[in-house]
Amino acid sequence: MEKTRLSVNLERLKKYIDASANIGTIPGNGVSRLALSKEDKEMRLIFEDWMKEAGLKVRVDDFGNMIGRREGKENKSPVVLGSHLDTQPNGGRYDGILGVLSALEVVNSLNDSNIETLRPIEIVNFTNEEGARFEPPMLGSGGTSECLDKQYVYNQKDTEGRRFEEELEEIGYKGIPANRIKNIFSFIELHIEQGPILESEGKSIGAVNGIQGMAWLEVKVTGESDHAGTTPINHRRDALVATSKMIVGIEEIGRKTNAKTTVGRLTMRPNVANCIPEEVIFSVDIRHDSNTKKVESIRMITELLNKLAVEQNVSINIEPLWDIDATIFNPYLVDLIKNTAEELEYEVMDIISGAGHDAKYINSIGPTAMIFVPSVNGKSHHESELTHDKDIEKGANTLLNTVYQLSMMENEII
Ligand code: HGY
Ligand code: MN
Ligand code: MN
Repeated sequence: MEKTRLSVNLERLKKYIDASANIGTIPGNGVSRLALSKEDKEMRLIFEDWMKEAGLKVRVDDFGNMIGRREGKENKSPVVLGSHLDTQPNGGRYDGILGVLSALEVVNSLNDSNIETLRPIEIVNFTNEEGARFEPPMLGSGGTSECLDKQYVYNQKDTEGRRFEEELEEIGYKGIPANRIKNIFSFIELHIEQGPILESEGKSIGAVNGIQGMAWLEVKVTGESDHAGTTPINHRRDALVATSKMIVGIEEIGRKTNAKTTVGRLTMRPNVANCIPEEVIFSVDIRHDSNTKKVESIRMITELLNKLAVEQNVSINIEPLWDIDATIFNPYLVDLIKNTAEELEYEVMDIISGAGHDAKYINSIGPTAMIFVPSVNGKSHHESELTHDKDIEKGANTLLNTVYQLSMMENEII
C-alpha cells in the first residue's frame, strides 16, 4: 500500500516563527523571552489564539504547561509533541520555538488534508525549559512528569527573589493538575541541534538517540574585603583571585575527562574597583554522555575547589543544584524517525544531544524521541542562532509524517 506522504506549509510555519520573534525582540535578530515574564505572557496569549484557530481544545496544567488537544476517532492514549517558547536572555528565534510552532503546523497540515487520526494529538508548550530565570532548567516538564517535586518547582526564585508560583499566578497561567499530559502514547520533540555535527556531516535530520547527563553546582567563595591600596599582596584573602584559579582548573578537568565544563554565571561583592573582593558566587555546568565520567568530573572538580580554597586561605561552599543522568530514547521511535526521514529522501544520521530538553523528563512517562535539524555554524543561546528554511521544512515534514503514522497505530509501543 502506497505510504501517505504529507507536507507542511512552510510559508505558514515561517509566518508563525517570524510573528513569535516579534515578542521580546533584541538587536541582532534575537529574542529575549524569559519564563513567566510579560513577554512570555504575551507569547502565551497569542499561542493560545493560534491553537484555537487550529481547532484545538486548550488547557493549562499546574506548572503553566499549555496543551492543545485534537480529538481522534477513538479516545486512545494521545500522540504528544511540542517543546518550549521561553528563551535565553540573549536567545535566538528557533531554540524551542521551532518545536512548538512545528507542532502547531502538524495540526494545521492535518486539518488542511481533512485527516481524522485514530488517536488524539496533543501539542505542548512547556514552562521554563531554559532555566535562565528560574534554575534549574525544564521545571515545567520536570514538574508535570513528577521527576521534580511540585513544591520544589514552586519555591524556585529568580535573582530578584520572586517565586515561581507567584509569577505563574501573576501571568494567569497557574492551571490545575488534572490538565497535565498523562498516559501518553508517545512524545516527539523537534528541536534545533544547537551544535555543529549535522552541518559538518551534511545531514538535514538528526534521529536523536538520547541526551547526555548534566549537573549544575553553585560555588560560594568567601575571603575578606580590604583596601586595594594599602593591603600587601601576601596579606590578602582575595575571593576573586581564588575563584579565577578554580575556573581555570575546572576547564582543565573538562579537557582531561572530556566533560563539557562551563562557568556561566558569576556574581561578586563588593564589586568595587578599590576593594579586595570578599565573596564570589559562581555556577558550574558539567555534562558528559557517560554517567561514570560525569560523576568522576564532579568528584575531581570538588576536590580541586577544596584544595585551592585551603591554598588561597578562603572558605568555600559547594551546593549541588541539579544532577540528571544520561537519557536513552525509545529505540522504536528513533528508528521510526530515521525510516520516515529516509522515505522522504532526507539525509539523516543518529546523534546524541549535548543540550538538555523537555524530552528528557517526558521520557520517564512514555516512549519519547527527538528530531534535530542543523544549526548554522552550530550556534545557539545567541542572537545569531539560525536554521535554514529548507532544513526547517525537512524537520517539520519528518515530524508531521512521524506523528501521522503514530496517530494511526492501534497497539501501544514497547
Ligand atoms: O541547558 C540546556 O541545555 C538547555 O538549552 N536548557
Ligand atoms: Mn531548547
Ligand atoms: Mn536552550
